[in-house]
Amino acid sequence: MLFGTVVPNTLQFLVMATQMVVLSPPLALVSALGVPCLLLVIGYLGERLRGISRRAHITAAKLSSYVNEVLPLMLVVKANNGELNENLHFCRLAHDDLIARLGKKKLKAVIPQIVQVIYIGGLIVLHAISLIALKGSMDGSRLLSFTMSLVLLIDPIQGMGKAFNELKEGEPAVERLFELAQFHNKVVEKPNALDLCYVTGDIKFSGVTFRYGDNLPLILNELDIHIKRGERVAFIGRSGGGKTTIVKLLLRLYDPLYGDIFLDDYNIQEVKLRNIREHIVLIPQDTMLFSGTVAENIGYKDASGKLDMECVENAARIANADEFIRELPHGYQTNIGPRGSLLSGGQRQRVAIARALYRKSSILILDEATSALDSMSEQLFRQGLERLMKNHTVLIIAHRIETMMMADRVLLVEGGKVEEVPKSSILSPDGHLASLLNSFADTGRRKN
Ligand SMILES: Nc1ncnc2c1ncn2[C@@H]1O[C@H](COP(=O)(O)OP(=O)(O)OP(=O)(O)O)[C@@H](O)[C@H]1O
Ligand SMILES: [Mg+2]
Repeated sequence: MLFGTVVPNTLQFLVMATQMVVLSPPLALVSALGVPCLLLVIGYLGERLRGISRRAHITAAKLSSYVNEVLPLMLVVKANNGELNENLHFCRLAHDDLIARLGKKKLKAVIPQIVQVIYIGGLIVLHAISLIALKGSMDGSRLLSFTMSLVLLIDPIQGMGKAFNELKEGEPAVERLFELAQFHNKVVEKPNALDLCYVTGDIKFSGVTFRYGDNLPLILNELDIHIKRGERVAFIGRSGGGKTTIVKLLLRLYDPLYGDIFLDDYNIQEVKLRNIREHIVLIPQDTMLFSGTVAENIGYKDASGKLDMECVENAARIANADEFIRELPHGYQTNIGPRGSLLSGGQRQRVAIARALYRKSSILILDEATSALDSMSEQLFRQGLERLMKNHTVLIIAHRIETMMMADRVLLVEGGKVEEVPKSSILSPDGHLASLLNSFADTGRRKN
């Protein structure tokens, strides 16, 4: 834009203006009076274009985020007869976007015409007035030459106006980028953070209090937990009680309001974030896979992009996933579609276990899915899980009794604190825990 528009237009403007001054200084002065008025008009229209462009950016962002959200949920939409509703919603957003974009295009098309009309009109009037004032003191050829210079002066002003409008049109996009760039992560790694190459897997929460936002309720309230290395601990409790939150704090996705979390007696706020997440492997509540091949999903941690296929296959075998993977059209190189949608729920879970096995970590977190698998898948999953749990400190967020029984200790998360409950009370049909579990099961059923 600098060399294509600004430089040639400025040069042309300077040459024409100089010629006008040489031909008739008083007439040039009168003509120059029109320029500030024109700049004011260009400035005003540029601001309007900026506002309309901002609106168009927002409508486009709303439309694309809606499409991104609803397309993966198409199964839910169709199963709930939601097509008509979603169609209407889509049409409304698309219409808003269309109006905003059309408004921008119209203004962009009309700005040069407005500028031209004002400029020519203004100059004709000024010219006529000055000619009357000069009363024929200029000869015909000088007057013609002056008028030609004046006409050629329009072009660079138009060109600069266009460049200015392009700048104004692009401004909202740049502002949005700056807004994003100014977003500061609340979890900050200290500059002299420790590099923990190895952890044994001892975890301690000491007086941890946490809430998600200033005006939101406390989720954890002076929570104390000590999990020794190699131990398997199950967390149970009602939905929304804060079980997943405990895990998020351990991974340092958030920092506690008060209190500290220790990994092998090192405060995790003193340790490199990369280290914490290297030593802890998470199998989340909703198994998340990426579009790509099965092998890429299992070897996800490899930022180098080099997959150790022997390790990938080994992990899949231990996770009971090898057999079904080999039956896929291209085996380990089969593309599993967006979010792994070409695999069944049980297959996705086993790929997730294989991914966890591929990562050689010391702590395993399993956030158990609330929806049940069929018994065959469940059995294959549990076998894989049992093998994965060896040599790990394990935190299981358990919803089913079978999973709770896999643990050494069971902790009940309630009222922002944890309380240890004997495993025997889980099995006793009339105990406090049995009725509590029934109520969890009811909430779970209602949720699904
Ligand atoms: N990102 C967030 N922002 C604000 N509140 C949140 C956020 N994530 C969770 N919460 C709230 O924190 C509370 C605890 O959520 P958490 O996910 O820890 O529950 P949970 O015990 O894992 O439940 P479930 O058994 O249903 O998975 C809930 O009330 C939830 O609404
Ligand atoms: Mg949860």
